Amino acid sequence: MTAPAMAPACTLVLFGAAGDLVKRLLIPSIYDLAVSGVLDPRFRIVGVDRAELTDESWRGRLKEALHDMAADPAAEFNAGTIREDIWQDLAGRLSFLRGDVTQDGTFDALSKRIDGSAIFYCAVAGRFFTPIAEGLGRAGLLRETGGAFRRLVVEKPFGDDLASARALDAKLLSLAREDQIYRIDHFLGKETVQAIMALRFANRIFEPLWSAEHLDHVQITAAEVLGVEGRGSFYERAGALRDMVPNHLFQVMAMVAMEPPADLGERAVRDAKGAVLSAVRPVQPEDVVRGQYAAGSLNDEARVGYRQEPGVDPQSRTETYAALKLDIDTPRWAGVPFYLRTGKRLAAHRTEIVLQFKASAHAIFGASPEPNRLTLHIDGDKGLRTEFQIKAPGPGMALAPVAEAFRHDDFFEHVPNIGYESLLYACMMGDASLFQRADAIEAPWAAVEPALDAWKTGDPELYAAGSAGPSGADALLARDGRAWAPLQTPPNERFKRRTGAGASG
Ligand code: BG6
Repeated sequence: MTAPAMAPACTLVLFGAAGDLVKRLLIPSIYDLAVSGVLDPRFRIVGVDRAELTDESWRGRLKEALHDMAADPAAEFNAGTIREDIWQDLAGRLSFLRGDVTQDGTFDALSKRIDGSAIFYCAVAGRFFTPIAEGLGRAGLLRETGGAFRRLVVEKPFGDDLASARALDAKLLSLAREDQIYRIDHFLGKETVQAIMALRFANRIFEPLWSAEHLDHVQITAAEVLGVEGRGSFYERAGALRDMVPNHLFQVMAMVAMEPPADLGERAVRDAKGAVLSAVRPVQPEDVVRGQYAAGSLNDEARVGYRQEPGVDPQSRTETYAALKLDIDTPRWAGVPFYLRTGKRLAAHRTEIVLQFKASAHAIFGASPEPNRLTLHIDGDKGLRTEFQIKAPGPGMALAPVAEAFRHDDFFEHVPNIGYESLLYACMMGDASLFQRADAIEAPWAAVEPALDAWKTGDPELYAAGSAGPSGADALLARDGRAWAPLQTPPNERFKRRTGAGASG
């Protein structure tokens, strides 16, 4: 494998420099990029925020966070130790600019720190995207001259419904060209999400099976054990649907459902994704379920309900769980529903895709006791699992369900990767294929709009913290004679091997 090329020199401006995203995900990812040696010696980072920080105090805060997270097995960034030489080099590239993004003076001050190429990263709440883009525009910072690039990275949530997403897009496109705008979705930075294309289109053993002819349905799950983690006031306005579904889960669905692109180029991949996303039929209000976690317990520890979380209205109607059934109007997926679910404070942290197969057409064994499944584990124990039937040993011809698993870590060296590394690197390299075009944002909003409308009234169903979610979500599948893959049982324990208790598959 050849080492990745060095990224071009540029200044990365982080708006929201004192925030959680910068501390928890962006700086650790840049640290990982520094370790892999792809940062140009002239690469610089300017942090912009209203917080009362200085170069020194900002660096100190980031260093402390890096060390804490590196040692925390539960953190996304779990590098083990921080290399002091790498940190020193990185710290020397960091400077802080105190300023309010609604004030022109901030952008004037910023202009003085930028020479040549720059990436402006909006790691702030959605309501600041427009003021930032306007401020940059007024200060002339989005103008590209002398071969330098100027790029704008916009985090999610990109709007909070179809109309606001369109308005935001129109605003951005009045200030910058489409190819300067990088709409980020960090799920697309996940190695295992990118790997879906390789799995599907480089393997004859999977490719022909990937359609309505063989599949019964698809499940996409993003279950978290975490609650709202101090983000109560943000979450109150967002809720599980806006926070996870039209962005992360739809992007995963697009990877699973898209037609093979003509090639791996940015245009072909985005066209293929755009085509399938625009074929998702608007969800029926009876095909959506919302829930909110109530008090419960997780790993024998008592947990408060969502309404008791800091920053949350004690009467809040915001959903912390959403499940939906979607249909895709293409020949490949006719009659194959996609069931999506996501929630906080659930029994397990599990991000997975389950493709469940139809029963054999010629049923010489009678009704198949267990369906074939192919499960793609996106997070945690990353890899792939196939479940199938074989003959149970002994006289007669009885079937026994078995499973075989491929584990990422058995084949590849573990390289610390939060997901933002490849996105930041791609943005520096000018490769937008892992970023979203406007159509990939608007089509999902259009598809979930009936749910947003239906949820303007009524209440979410309560579920206990630490459970598998609201019973309505089970009913959504039971109605169709189907069931969710169990959340509580770790995938590797669903099958018993003769040796050892739970199988390690
Ligand atoms: C973020 C959401 O975009 O994704 C969070 O705002 C969520 O609420 C997170 O926890 C999940 O991402 P990951 O990579 O931890 O699965």
